[in-house]
Amino acid sequence: MKSIIVFASGAGSNFSSIMQYAKTTDTFSIALLVVNKEDAPVIQLAKEQAIPVLLLNKETFNSAEWIATLITYQPSLIVLAGFLWKLPEHIVHAFPNKIINIHPALLPKHGGKGMYGMRVHQAVKDAKETESGITIHYVNEHYDEGAIILQEKIAIAIDDSAADIAKKVQQLEHHFLPITIDNLLQ
Ligand code: GAR
Repeated sequence: MKSIIVFASGAGSNFSSIMQYAKTTDTFSIALLVVNKEDAPVIQLAKEQAIPVLLLNKETFNSAEWIATLITYQPSLIVLAGFLWKLPEHIVHAFPNKIINIHPALLPKHGGKGMYGMRVHQAVKDAKETESGITIHYVNEHYDEGAIILQEKIAIAIDDSAADIAKKVQQLEHHFLPITIDNLLQ
C-alpha cells in the first residue's frame, strides 16, 4: 500500500472523493492532509477519518525544514486538490514527478496565477467557450504549466451559468482524480 499526501485549502470535495476511493483500493491511502487555512472545511473531513492534518503558514511554507516532515511520510505522490499557493521550487525539486495538480478547465486555457475555483468558470463563461473540463498535470515551478496527464471535457450549453459549468466540471473531478491517482501508482 502506497502513501499519498493531499494539499487542499477549501471545501474539500475532491479530498473527500479521494478519501472515499481510498477505502475501496489496496493501491494507496492518504497519509497526511496539508492545509494553509485554519478554518478550511476540509480539515474537519480529515479529522473525521483520523487523517493527520498539517497546517501551514507562509513562513513554514517557505522554510526548508518542513520538507523533512513531508519526507517522513514517504509519499509516492503529492496531490494538490484545490491548493492555491504556488509551491516553492525547493518542494518541487524534492519530489520530482511526484506532485500533481487538478485544474478545473482545459489548460493551457484559463490557467495561471489567480485562476482558481469560480474565477475559472466565470472566465470560461465570459469567453463563450462551448466546452470546458478538467486538467490533471504534473507540477513544475510555473503555475499550471507542468506536463499534462489527463484532460476530460464537458459540453457547455449557451444558457449555462458559471455555477452550472462548475457543477459539471466538479463531477468530472470527483470521478477522474481518484482513478488517475490509482493509475499513476499502479
Ligand atoms: C477544484 O475545483 C479544483 O479543481 C480547484 O479548486 C477546487 C477545489 O474544490 N483548483 C484550482 O482552481 C487550482 N487552480 P474542493 O475544495 O471542493 O475540492
